[in-house]
Amino acid sequence: FWSQVPQGPADPILGVSEAFKADKSSKKINLGVGAYRDGNGKPYVLPSVLEAEKRLFNGSLDKEYLPITGLGDFTKLSAELAYGKDSKPIKEGRVAVAQSISGTGALRIGTAFLARFYPHAKAIYLPSPSWGNHTPIAKDSGLEVKQYTYFDKETVGLNFEGMKKDIQNAPNNSIILLHACAHNPTGIDPTHEQWKELSNIFKEKGHFPFFDMAYQGFASGDIDYDAFALRHFVSEGHQPILTQSFAKNMGLYGERAGAFSIVCNSAEEKAKVDSQIKILIRPLYSNPPVHGARLVSAILGDEQLRAQWLTEVKGMADRIIDMRHGLQSMLEDMNTPGSWKHISNQIGMFSFTGLKAEAVDALAANASIYMTRDGRISMAGLNKNNLEYFAENVSKAVKG
Ligand code: LMR
Repeated sequence: FWSQVPQGPADPILGVSEAFKADKSSKKINLGVGAYRDGNGKPYVLPSVLEAEKRLFNGSLDKEYLPITGLGDFTKLSAELAYGKDSKPIKEGRVAVAQSISGTGALRIGTAFLARFYPHAKAIYLPSPSWGNHTPIAKDSGLEVKQYTYFDKETVGLNFEGMKKDIQNAPNNSIILLHACAHNPTGIDPTHEQWKELSNIFKEKGHFPFFDMAYQGFASGDIDYDAFALRHFVSEGHQPILTQSFAKNMGLYGERAGAFSIVCNSAEEKAKVDSQIKILIRPLYSNPPVHGARLVSAILGDEQLRAQWLTEVKGMADRIIDMRHGLQSMLEDMNTPGSWKHISNQIGMFSFTGLKAEAVDALAANASIYMTRDGRISMAGLNKNNLEYFAENVSKAVKG
């Protein structure tokens, strides 16, 4: 039956993990997928999550189906975490929220909802570059994908003028995806002043903001600071779509806990939107998994556990910052050609090193060091034990 099925390429991000697993070297390092590792290179289960697990276990909960849009406590607490408890649309009961299969699932619901109901456009603008999965998600949902300028190769920073120009030149009422914080893959975010300018341009143009927030807390170590862009847009009257993930900031990767929300005009509009979100989700996966959502609710809903979690998020962000400084100074001490300041200036989980695809391939083949072919490294994969080995090999690759 299937002889005509063509062989597909490996996933640009998850395929790196497969190659890493197959490598037998004891020195191998995986800097591909964005998954936090502790100081010993091991996966990290947050102590607040372990405590939440204990509480759930002792609570003898059943395993019944959740409603189509998920656990009520979870959706309420997730929306408050992102928009802020005092957010006007939340207080006015006009934010439609659904639990999702993490960030990817939220993006899928959001793009499918837009493809079905957004009256002005059937295209979505993504920053160039963007997370590798954004394009296939949007396309599979039936949206056309366009791009706006984001990264400046020369400065290894934000090309803000180019970004503004492209957003200004997009047709009125365009759908534009923004990384709310800790831009993936570049690790470069607009400043608060730049976000304010962008909000004004969106207003003039009637553009529709679609915020993807997969790293709240990871950019600065402070969840409120990281929510600035979203909250500013909302305070300016925009009614965005928001996609959230608890994979990174709670380390709940495999639990697939995320949320999708749309700010509506009124409670009546919200009720209609809610009904259509249910109609979208039901044939996709019926209803979401319960365990991860319970963990998130147990943490966010308990003052003491929430405070503990915030300290742990900051701890992860700080360890990554340490690695950034360490890597920059090692590369400089090794007289590696070029400037390496961007490693420390970038934020979030990733660094966009500027390494070319050939150098990436050579590092994998010769040193068992794995990263995505765009030269992105997950900083969390570095630790005191492998930093020097990594820096030496990067230095060698750059020197040619
Ligand atoms: C990444 O960019 O590495 C993460 O968002 C994980 C993923 O699913 O790609």
